[in-house]
Formats: sequence, C-alpha cells, structure tokens
Amino acid sequence: MLWLGLLTLADAVAAQGFSTTMLRFGCSQVSIDRIDPLVEPGGIPSAHVHQIVGGDAFNATMPYEDISKLAKCTTCTFDQDLSNYWTANVYFKARNGSYKRVPQMVNDAIGAANGGITVYYTAPGPKTVTAFKPGFRMFTGDAMRRISANQGRNMQSCYRCYTGPNFGGNTMSPCMDPKLDTEHFPKTPCPGGIRSSVIFPICWDGKNLDSPNHMDHVAHPTSGPASFAVVNAACPPSHPVKIPQVHYEIVWDTTKFNNKNEWPADGSQPFVLSSGDPTGYGQHGDYVFGWKDDTLQHAMDNRCFGPTCRGLTTQGFDKANKCQVKTVVKEDMDGWLPALPGQHHG
Ligand SMILES: *[C@@H]1O[C@H](CO)[C@@H](O)[C@H](O)[C@H]1NC(C)=O
Ligand SMILES: *[C@@H]1O[C@H](CO)[C@@H](O)[C@H](O)[C@H]1NC(C)=O
Repeated sequence: MLWLGLLTLADAVAAQGFSTTMLRFGCSQVSIDRIDPLVEPGGIPSAHVHQIVGGDAFNATMPYEDISKLAKCTTCTFDQDLSNYWTANVYFKARNGSYKRVPQMVNDAIGAANGGITVYYTAPGPKTVTAFKPGFRMFTGDAMRRISANQGRNMQSCYRCYTGPNFGGNTMSPCMDPKLDTEHFPKTPCPGGIRSSVIFPICWDGKNLDSPNHMDHVAHPTSGPASFAVVNAACPPSHPVKIPQVHYEIVWDTTKFNNKNEWPADGSQPFVLSSGDPTGYGQHGDYVFGWKDDTLQHAMDNRCFGPTCRGLTTQGFDKANKCQVKTVVKEDMDGWLPALPGQHHG
C-alpha cells in the first residue's frame, strides 16, 4: 500500500514521455505560529497564523546564511533537509461567527507524520536542474487574490475535495484536472478532507537569493506556469537557470466540520484561510532552502525517487516528530475564537 501511490505517480510521470526525478516526502509540523521570516521579517506577531515544517532554525528573522548549519534537527524525512516550508492555516467559521482551526492530517503513503506538509522536488531528468544556494528563499501565490488566476491545467494553487476515507482513492496529479481540482475552496463537504497544493516557479535569475517581493528572482517558463511534473519547458533569458520544482501538499482534516446544518445559511462554504480569505484563491507558500552541502543537487542528479535516495539518509517519524520550535507568539490558536488571530472581526 505504501508504494501504490508512488508507483501510480511514477506511471503518471512516465506517461508524459520523459524521465522525471522526483523526491516526495513527509515533513511533520514543527510549529504553528504567527511569525513570517520571509514576508514580515522580525514582525512579532505577523499578520496571520502559519503552519511550519522542517528545521528548527525557523524564527521571526532568518539570516541569509546556510540554514543547515543553524538548525539542529528537522521534521522532514531526509536528515539532510533542514529547510523550512510554510503556508497559511485553514479555519472553520461557525454560524455564530466563531472560528476554529482545522488540523492537518497525514497525506497518503507518508506514514505517521504529525500533520504537516508533503514536499516534492521535481526535475525533468537527472542533471537537468541547479539546486538552490544557501540563503535562497522564495514565495508563491498572492495572499490578496480573490479571483481565479486562470491557469487552467497549469494552476499553481488548487484544492481537491476528497470524496471518501483514504482520500477517495484519488490522490494523483494535483492541479492538473479542472474537474477534480479547483483554485477556490470546495463548495460541498469533503468526507475525506481537503487537499491543498501549492506549486513554485521553476526558473531562477541565477544571481539573487531573494528579491523585495520574494518572487521576482524566480519566474515561470516561457510557455507559462509549469504544472505538476510538467517541468521540461524552457526558461526565459531573464531567468535562465532551471531549478527543481518545489511543491507542497497539505491535507486538512475537515471531517469534524462537515455537518451542513453548521454551514452558512446562505449556502456558501465555511472555510477560510488564516489570512482572512474565504475564497481560497489567496493560498500561498513560503520556502527557505536549507539542505546540507550539495545533498539536494545529489538527489536531483541521481534519479532519486519518493522518500529514498542513495547517498542520503532518512529518519523515522518517531524521531522527526520530536523536533519542535518553541512558539514565539503565545496566543490561543485552537479554541473557538471570536476573530482570526491578527485579523479584524468580521
Ligand atoms: C529566535 O530569535 C531570537 C531573537 O533573535 C532568539 O533569542 C532565539 O533563540 C531564536 N530562536 C531559535 C529557535 O533560534
Ligand atoms: C459558536 O458555535 C460553535 C459551533 O457550534 C460553538 O462550539 C461555540 O461554542 C459557539 N460560540 C459562541 C461564542 O457562542
């Protein structure tokens, strides 16, 4: 069962006619906190709540240094990956206007992680991409977006409504099937939870570790955004260096919130991003690179696949789950809240 998902994924990738290198592994939650070293460095608290996974060097400010040397442990599968990955959280809004945080659940075939994120690094084949440099970071999405980005089968942010337990038996090819994947929150209850997917650009300017909006140093290929695993498109002259496609999956355990009698009386759906977005179009992701030495380059060059890679080592979730970052902003995140933390009532 563990391998079924991956083999199906490998088939899907092979069907596209090229040999893809694709790491896919779980990272448990390392913290839930209201800090954001990328968009609001030093801001305590930041504007909205995040769920964070990866290394324990995560902090309100993160220097442009080799993060793998600052962190001592990681919640990710590969011991060598001390990166940080984070997104907004999802909350349920009750009819009386109170909010409750929706927990993450473990993605299929990942094992006993503590919620968290499933992370992918994809390349068109061995030796086709340049791994990130120490200090590299980037952002994708638009927290202010409330309408479709109109990317069709190449959408970079999507949700899938899992129609039954075990993810409704349909976990493959995120963001590529407009019948299954939507840029907005699903409009009906999802008995198996809701999967969020966030996909980052695959071209880099080759020089900058960051940029003022945390996006301009990376770009989409000339043919437009590259959807999941379709990563062989050409990069523009301004951003000539092909980088691994970073991609997050989060499964939100909405099962406790599926009673339609508790959903808004006007028929709308009740979920909202911690940024205050009730549509879901504003989903976004943050990344700070932190692999040790050249280990990510090694993985991308050597046909590593799924959660295994010759030359790298892995840890079990029993150990990974012990890695934690102390919460900086101490506030109630899990009770019924009169407002989203950091957001105005309304
Ligand atoms: C985070 O930064 C603060 C202030 O610079 C520091 O005191 C604290 O030890 C840091 N925490 C971690 C986990 O590095
Ligand atoms: C609001 O509704 C929720 C869900 O029904 C309930 O658990 C909570 O206690 C209510 N809060 C208030 C302040 O009435």
